[in-house]
Amino acid sequence: MSEPPALVGAPGLAAAVSPRELLIQAAYLAASVLFILGLKSLTKPDSARRGMQQAALGMLLAIVGTLFHHQIVEYHWIVAGLVIGGVIGWPLGTRVPMTAMPQRIALSHMFGATAASLVGVAEYYTAYRPLADGTLPGVDPARMAALGFEVLFGSLTVTGSLMAAGKLQELLPGQPITFRGQNVFNVAVFALAIGLFLFLIAFPASAAAFYTMIGLALVIGVSMVLPIGAADMPVVVSLLNSYAGLAAAATGFAIGNNVLIICGALDGGSGFLLSMLMCKAMNRSFANVLFGAFGTPQAASARSATGLVAKSISAEDAAIQLAYARKVIVVPGYGMAVAQSQHQVRELAELIERRGGEVKYAIHPVAGRMPGHMNVLLAEANVPYDRLYDMEEINQEFANTDVAVVIGANDVVNPAARNDPSSPIYGMPILNVDQARSIIVMKRSMNPGFAGIENELFYDPKTRMLFGDAKASLTKLVTEVKAL
Ligand code: TAP
Repeated sequence: MSEPPALVGAPGLAAAVSPRELLIQAAYLAASVLFILGLKSLTKPDSARRGMQQAALGMLLAIVGTLFHHQIVEYHWIVAGLVIGGVIGWPLGTRVPMTAMPQRIALSHMFGATAASLVGVAEYYTAYRPLADGTLPGVDPARMAALGFEVLFGSLTVTGSLMAAGKLQELLPGQPITFRGQNVFNVAVFALAIGLFLFLIAFPASAAAFYTMIGLALVIGVSMVLPIGAADMPVVVSLLNSYAGLAAAATGFAIGNNVLIICGALDGGSGFLLSMLMCKAMNRSFANVLFGAFGTPQAASARSATGLVAKSISAEDAAIQLAYARKVIVVPGYGMAVAQSQHQVRELAELIERRGGEVKYAIHPVAGRMPGHMNVLLAEANVPYDRLYDMEEINQEFANTDVAVVIGANDVVNPAARNDPSSPIYGMPILNVDQARSIIVMKRSMNPGFAGIENELFYDPKTRMLFGDAKASLTKLVTEVKAL
């Protein structure tokens, strides 16, 4: 199938590169540039859609470039793979609701890591299958290191991502599952897998060590994710994204594919950075997320630990407060996503604005259950991007705000993060909702949020609780404000 090489480039610097190879490398270069541009565009809500389109075009170019590869001798298995991938990918992309996006992303990582691991297994199998003359092609230590890394990280990402998706979809218990000696067990299994990895670099022909290492990596994926609570899954998913990226980059080294090295490194780097940023926004360390078994809830009560009582408000009274407010800040949280009430939020804000009030949205970096969760939901409801403010931009404005409306947010507005050094969320940056002149909190009960702790904001004399599902409460508010 190989074509005779053509000479390109200046005489003297001439290198033997076939036109086909040139085409493939040009497609890979364009794909890599598009991936980088895509990541850049994804950093802002108004260019994020373009970012996805750039990345998708990059992926198309990478696939088309690969299809020209001279090692491909027939296409029917590839077409079968494209059809199966399309049949799975289309409904995943079009049917899965926004609230299920974290588990959908976990499944995508599982597929990516499965692909990387299978390529690694196929490469190893080919290298240690005797040729017609009885000899083994084998692999050199550097290539074995890349292959070993690829299947080790790829395999643990496969089961880890499946566990994360299962927890997020509530197919598995969301609370941390722990047992005595768990951390010792995890470290021992990991050490054993690393030992086999090093052994394989020295003795690559040991197929038993290779497949045992894969088995251990699959166990690590499960045992690493079990003790982590469901609400910490976004950090885990993004960390696994980073592992899948590193596995893809290792695949690139193992099979000599530049675009895999580049996009694997981008994926690995961005996933790791995102996990770190999430931990920073929660003021928690990686170790606390991975080994802290965070998120075991406290019992709910209408009376605070210090004896204060939470006061409720009717939709009629809340509507009057909002209709005559000059300045309102909406603070969305996980409950807004659960209730899917973003459209009613926008409707209420428009009514207040028509009556002369100003409405802004305060977005906490870890509100909800995935990065950018609130931005995506509000954008879906056509809330203009320029009304959305990051925590640092808006925090000083709460003090001159008439009403702060908290919609299904809890931990991200809990003043204990500032005031109570014994609180598990102490030190986490929060939205200064307690500084507003009055506060309306919409939630269904006094139940705690993800951190499982009481929120002193609910007992603040300036706070009124509007109990009920956020969508139902907002629908009532819209009707009441319209009637005024
Ligand atoms: P949470 O603290 O989890 O609180 C959500 C609140 O929404 C709950 O108190 C719940 O109270 C209420 N709720 C649920 N369903 C509702 C509905 N249908 N209608 C009205 N209210 C409803 O949310 P948050 O303030 O957004 O904080 C996010 C938490 O997740 C933080 O602790 C953060 O550290 C953690 N976390 C976030 C991320 C990312 S990347 N976003 C990653 C890891 C961890 P009721 O049950 O009483 O209604």
